[in-house]
This record gives sequence, C-alpha cells and structure tokens, in this order.
Amino acid sequence: MQDTSFAIHPGNEKANKSTQYYDIGNLIDYEINQLFQFRCERGWVTLSFYAEDIARITMKPLSKPTMESSFALMKEPQEIETVCEEHTQYLLIKTAQLHIKISKIPFRIAAYDHQGRVLVEEGKRGMAFTQKQEIICFKEMDAADHFYGFGEKTSFLDKRGEKMTMWNTDVFAPHNPETDSLYESIPYFMTIRNGFAHGIFFDNTYRTVFDLKSSQESYSFWAEGGELDYYILAGPTPKDVIAQYTTLTGRMDIPPKWALGYHQSRYSYKDEQEVRELVSLFKKKEIPVDAIYLDIHYMDGYRVFTFDYDRFPQAHSLIQELRAEGINIIPIVDPGVKQDAEYPIYQEGVRENHFCKSIEGNIYLGEVWPGISAFPDFSNTDVRRWWGQKQKFYTDMGIEGIWNDMNEPAVFNETKTMDLSVIHGNDGNPKSHRELHNVYGLLMGEATYTGLKEQLSGKRPFVLTRAGYAGVQRYAAVWTGDNRSFWEHMQMAMPMCMNLGISGVPFTGPDVGGFAHDTTGELLTRWTQLGAFTPYFRNHSNLGTVAQEPWAFGEEVGMITKKYIELRYKWLPHLYTLFREAHQTGLPVMRPLVLEYPNDPHTFNLSDQFLIGENVLIAPITRPSTYHRVVYLPEGIWYDYWTDTKYEGGTHIMVSAPLDTLPIFVKEGAMISEAPVKLSTKVPDEHVIIHVYPSQQVTEYVLYEDDGSSFSYQNKQYLERKITCHHHENQVEINIEDIHAGYSPSWKTMIFQIHGVDAMKTIYVNGQEKTDAYLEDKHILTFELNQ
Ligand code: GLC
Repeated sequence: MQDTSFAIHPGNEKANKSTQYYDIGNLIDYEINQLFQFRCERGWVTLSFYAEDIARITMKPLSKPTMESSFALMKEPQEIETVCEEHTQYLLIKTAQLHIKISKIPFRIAAYDHQGRVLVEEGKRGMAFTQKQEIICFKEMDAADHFYGFGEKTSFLDKRGEKMTMWNTDVFAPHNPETDSLYESIPYFMTIRNGFAHGIFFDNTYRTVFDLKSSQESYSFWAEGGELDYYILAGPTPKDVIAQYTTLTGRMDIPPKWALGYHQSRYSYKDEQEVRELVSLFKKKEIPVDAIYLDIHYMDGYRVFTFDYDRFPQAHSLIQELRAEGINIIPIVDPGVKQDAEYPIYQEGVRENHFCKSIEGNIYLGEVWPGISAFPDFSNTDVRRWWGQKQKFYTDMGIEGIWNDMNEPAVFNETKTMDLSVIHGNDGNPKSHRELHNVYGLLMGEATYTGLKEQLSGKRPFVLTRAGYAGVQRYAAVWTGDNRSFWEHMQMAMPMCMNLGISGVPFTGPDVGGFAHDTTGELLTRWTQLGAFTPYFRNHSNLGTVAQEPWAFGEEVGMITKKYIELRYKWLPHLYTLFREAHQTGLPVMRPLVLEYPNDPHTFNLSDQFLIGENVLIAPITRPSTYHRVVYLPEGIWYDYWTDTKYEGGTHIMVSAPLDTLPIFVKEGAMISEAPVKLSTKVPDEHVIIHVYPSQQVTEYVLYEDDGSSFSYQNKQYLERKITCHHHENQVEINIEDIHAGYSPSWKTMIFQIHGVDAMKTIYVNGQEKTDAYLEDKHILTFELNQ
C-alpha cells in the first residue's frame, strides 16, 4: 500500500515525538599530556592534532573515549606545537593554523583560523547523546554556508537544505532526489562560506545522519552508536580542505592507463562467442576500447572464482587473445560465496573460519545471485589475505582488473543487507555488523586491490567497486551503481561525481547510456559525450534492455559516439596528467566550478557543468531534442574548443550544440596535451600535441608521463616536462624544461598549436628561433619539435 495514496492517509500520521538529548554539560576539569582531555558533567572530550590545520575531537558519553580510529585513517596524530591560554570563561588552544576555543559553562567548542575567522562553533546546543547511546553534534550554520561532499548522493551539488543518511545500500529502485542512502558512505563534507572553505570528517562507521535541513541556524551530525569522533579541516581554500581530508584518508595510486580508456560492459556478455563478436565489431568499426566486462553469467552457477566452461570453454586463451589486441577482461566478483558443500571456496571458508558469524558461532547465510551464500569477514586481516590470494585464479589467466559489486553487502531480504547482530571478528576486537556495515565494501576493496597488486608482479591493478567508505579511493574506482536510462539520471551523475570528487574519490563515473530501462540513440549519444569526460568511462546496461553498444542505433549515433570515444583517447595525455595530480594532491579530475571559483555565487550550486582540471569547462546537453543551452563562463577569457571563438567570462552565454557537439570551453592561459587517436591505450603514441591558449601572462603547463602500467613511477621513473609560453607583441617564446627526466616516452615529436594568434609571429623555442611554423585557419600557429 506504500505506493498508493494510502501512504498519505491522515490516520498514518505519527505523533511527532522529539528525541531527548543529554548535553555533555559543563567542564569539570581537564588534563594536558599527549592530548587534551576534558571531563564534563556527562561525558569526556579529547582534542588532538594531526597537523597544524587538522584537529581531531572525540566525545564519549559518561566515560573516556577509546580514540580507536576507523579503517579510514592513514595518519597518526602528530606532536604539533600548541599554546594553551586559560581564561576564566574559556580555554584557547592554538596551533599556527587553528585556534580551538573551549567554553567551560556549558562545554562548547569553536574553531577559528589563525586570523580569527570562525570555522565551526557550537551555540545553544553542542555535543549530546541519547539514552540509546546515539550521539550528536550541533554546529551553528551561517546564512552564507554552502555544503559539498557527502560522498555519493542524489540531487544537486549544494547540499544545504538536505538531510542525508550514510548507510551503504543496494538501491535498484530509480534513484531520485529523495533517494537517501546509496552504495557509498563518506561521512565528510566541506563548507564554503564567503569564499573560504573548511571541512568536517565525522569518522563513525555506524549509520550516520547529516541534517542541514531542520534548522536555518544550526546543522548537526548524528550517529546511531559509537563515539563522536570528528576532524576539523581548516582550509582555507576548497583545495586545501581536499588536501587535508586526503592526508587523513589517503590518495589513489596512479591507475593503469588502460583503466582510463573506454570500457564496454553489459549484464551479461554471456559466452565466449558473444565476447568475440563484440570485439570484432569494435575492430571492424575501428572504435577504441580498452576493457570488456564479464558480468555474473561467466561463472559456474554464480560461484566466484570459477568460470562456466560451457559458456567459456577457452576462457584462458580468450583473455590472452584479447590482451594481444589491447583489451583487458574485467570479471565481476561479488562477496557472496555460494553455500555448497562441494565448492572448494565455500569449503575453505568454512574450514578456515573466514565467514561472518552470529555471536553463537553460526555462519550467517543470506541470499544473493548464487542462492544461499556466506560472506567473508573482511574485518580480519587473515580473511583479506585469503581473499587477496584467491584473486590468483584471475591473475593466472591474465586478468588485471576486478569489478567488486554487491559489497554493501547486498542481501535479497527486507533489510537489503546482513543481520545487524552478525559479529565481525575485527582481528580480535569483535564488532557488530551494525557498527561495521559501512566499511564492508572498503575492506573488500582493500583485500582485492592488495591481492591483485601482490600477484601482478609490479603491474598496476584496477579495481572497480560499488560500495565504500571514506578512504575507498586508496583501492578502487567507484561507479554510481544502478542508474536508469533516464535523461534525469545523466544529469544527476554530474553533481554525484563532483561531490564524490570533493569527497576524495577522483576516479568515478556513471553507467554510460544508463543501466536499467531502455536507452535511446539520442540519450546514448549525449551520455557518451559526457562519459568521454567523466574520470571513469564505461557503457553498461541491464539484462533484458535494448543493446546499447556505440553502434546499436544506426549510422549517425554510431558516428557521433565513435567521435567522442576517440576524443577520450585524444585527451588521454591531459587526463593522465590530471590523474597524476589526483594521486599527488587528492584533487579530483572532474571538478565543480565552485572548487576553482569559490567567490562566485553563480558556481555555488552549478550542477550541470563541470571542469576537467582547472581550466577546461564541459557543459553537456542533458535533455532530449535540445540543441542549445546556457553555459556559465566564470571570469576570464574562454575559447570554444571546437571553433576557437573567444568569449569574455563572468556571464552566461547561449551556445549551440547540435547532436554531434558537446560544448567544451578552454580558458585563456591553459595548455592541453593531446595524443593521436588509437584503438587502445596499449598502442604507443608517435607524437603529442600541445595546445596553447596563450594569455598576456606567462602560461605554464607540466606534462606528466610514465610507462602507464607499472609502479616504477614510485622509483622516480617518470617525466615531468614543464612548458612555458609567453606571447607578446610579435613573438611567441616557448621554453621547455624537463623538471624530472626519469622516463623517456614513446613519442619523440611535440606538435605545438598556439591558438588565438591573428598574424604570423616570430617563435623562439628555448631561445632558438623556429622558422618552419605556419598559421592555420582559425588562427592557430603550428610547429613541430623533434627530440
Ligand atoms: C548489480 C550491479 C550491476 C550488475 C548486476 C548483475 O545490479 O549494480 O552493475 O550488472 O548487479 O551483476
């Protein structure tokens, strides 16, 4: 009856009982040793520092906090120089970047930056708890506050006015603005207020709720259990907050280059012949592709670590042949292990005590694809190791990428997951599933990534995951789960991926074309245009839906989808450079405009356009029969990527976008590196093109290259080539300097294309005049440099 009007029957209205919260009360006394410990009337609070600009606060009702960290953390507290001033009403504890004020009666915390600007403060309400040991923290909300992050959430970019729950959930029902919990839980957010940013990471693995809706004056974060344990990240820029957050939770390794290519999937390419036919169509149509996915049908009765030999009699040679053609096979691996007394993985799991159990010791069994199944207890190191070693089944066949799905963990029952009373061993510190539910996917990702890495003898693994918690970026790329072939879902993918990026996860993307429901040629075209610029680019669709491979909708759609897949390959050197930046700094590849323009109100909730790096703006068409759209260009001069038409920013413009056009704008002062189109990332580049969009100032770009496949970049085997361009009056000066020359790329030629040049100029490269340059139409000055 919940989906008829009966759901809103007046008799259903429940009495609105407000929860009784107990404030921690006044400060009684405090101690300062390694950390600051405050005893209050109804609880203990600690303060410690992880850097000058990162403070950790914990609170436990009625007893001392344990200070145990969740699985998210990569950093230990640091000995930071602090000054503590005691005043009658309050204490002031200062680092060089953060000032923490502790008011005594009642106990309240406020954090300021070193210039005295308020970051967070508590007012009438501060930290509190309920009889049921739920915990909550209230903070004042400023009228100028805008909120970002929160991992994977539906709706628009700015989360002010939302109430969001973190509880990893398998949601096949259409995702819509009121869908709350999805597959990932990242209890972290960034506030931007008057151009400055700070962040809060609430490291609690229980179900948590962030309420930015119930009041205009304050917001709160709440957890169903555990300790109140959160970090204040001082900013002051949005980029600083991401750097601080990823200092705590880690950054991704540089992915293998092939993971950045175009990926084709379907639930399911059911047998070897289908896969071969698929590959031959890609070859025949000369469409680039780097990976093909095997969904659950490849397995024997959906048993993980098996192949169905009726369907895939030559699995091993198929994988080898495809590798030789530059295509990787990525099989799906779910956590559920079929209950089957004759199935070695189940036998081993039972014998070696690897499965989740009730406190009484019975293995928890729940239904997923293989039928009744057991679930590995990834909270134990030995289980993660076991699972990691099992990946050998795949790596021995030549597989280098694994797709982890259903790892919320999803179970086909009312609650959609395992019993909350299941006990996870947690290396001898047992905890209930109610507490560890949200980290199940993260730990499975860790087991998979670590196992693959061990077995691939120096090659970079690729893991794709559906579920995760803060820190998931260390192990896996994240796709946004079971979307539908709805225009609205394509639109929603943008703020979702942008907020994931702010939440430290740079490698994300939706199922291009839409998973459930039937796509159309037009939707697939527009979605492929968007997908070419989302960090992760995979076309995937559900069982029983119409075919949605690039050629499935006739010639025009086929031509355009191919053009954009090729465009992805062209942009790879630039994208790869940005992935390297994400590895170094945590900054996302796909960015909301507010990250670069936090003072510009037009960007605060701009959800249907995004930036690639700092200075490339993508504005997809997200409606049917629509060939124009409004694009917001922030301050500066912007070039239309296709026509080189220049626009003055700080305004909205109307652009034309026929079906074959994705509006792309490049900011003056930018440089972009492009490669020739190729059918797989495995094909070496013969040259690289550097597009320069010169400005009045000196323009700079650092191109990054390495072998794209091994970890040798961690031993300094990479190239960082700094290119500067100074365009003034009648001349263009280019300077090229290898800041680090630990790798020699396949290409030996650099083709320079200097845009927006209206007449021939004298060109100097590292002080030498270059005489063979020519001026193309569209005012592009072109020349080649050979090494
Ligand atoms: C889940 C996944 C989907 C996959 C399907 C079958 O719904 O989200 O991507 O195709 O399971 O494995």
